[in-house]
Amino acid sequence: MVDAEAFVEEKVTEIREAVGDGHAIIALSGGVDSSTAAALAYEALGEELTPVYVDTGLMRKGETEEIRETFDYMESLRIVDARERFLDELAGITDPEEKRHAIGEQFIREFETVAREEDADYLVQGTIYPDRIESEGTIKSHHNVGGLPEVVDFEGIVEPMRDLYKDEVREVARHLGLESVISERMPFPGPGLAVRIVGEVTEEKVEVVREATHVVEDELEEHDPWQAFAAVLGKATGVKGDNRVHGWVVAVRSVESRDGMTARAQELPWDVLQRIQSRITGTSENVSRVVYDVTHKPPATIEYE
Ligand code: XMP
Repeated sequence: MVDAEAFVEEKVTEIREAVGDGHAIIALSGGVDSSTAAALAYEALGEELTPVYVDTGLMRKGETEEIRETFDYMESLRIVDARERFLDELAGITDPEEKRHAIGEQFIREFETVAREEDADYLVQGTIYPDRIESEGTIKSHHNVGGLPEVVDFEGIVEPMRDLYKDEVREVARHLGLESVISERMPFPGPGLAVRIVGEVTEEKVEVVREATHVVEDELEEHDPWQAFAAVLGKATGVKGDNRVHGWVVAVRSVESRDGMTARAQELPWDVLQRIQSRITGTSENVSRVVYDVTHKPPATIEYE
């Protein structure tokens, strides 16, 4: 386990030395990693750090508002509304890697615009140890702003948490005084809800996943999963009132893990699963079925794409 106090002290000094009298920028996603990296870098640099939050439209319910409130103390925070641009870029794409690529590219374009406007010389990233391992193994193209350094000519990249595991990041977050909505937040993938939508990303599917994920997170909070969420798989027949409908199939996934590299599907009580089912089919008119995913990682991954 990391000694959070000593870690923060050491990293604050390191970040100050690395950035000198330059200006740094960080992409804030709202997840625990980037939030902790941003809070750490802000402690070191103050207004010489610009945290940038890009609202891709692929975020969880209420996330943008939460970010605005949590990081309100950073005057340099920039919030970019890119929702329409992301949906446009994703239209017609069904291949998972192409989807990730399109999101990564658009993210870079949005971030690059701000980096140039702010004249940023340094990029701070919330990369943690498991990200590096998975990227090296090319299991999946993690889009933690990878590629950005090639577009913007930064003088340097600072990754203060590159050797930490997730639970150590949470320790640091708590020490930095980040509210528990952030420090205890479940991991959320860079490409957002898009990797929980099998096939093309449309506004309708995003809404279904967003609402269903909200229900799952809410119902399972007390079961303390590593990650719990909903995904949209495709369509299947159901009955609503007197009519047969062709509605969305929503998968519920809840896993236990230490670092996301392997995971076990969580055993949940039947009544909990039934309550989730009834809330999801009750709130979303166009959902015909809810299924529970019992697959561990491996052989499945945690996310769907
Ligand atoms: P998988 O689905 O590969 O996910 O079993 C392992 C962990 O990584 C998260 N994840 C991502 N995080 N960018 C990220 O920052 C990504 O592209 C990405 N894909 C998956 C996932 O939520 C899980 O915690």
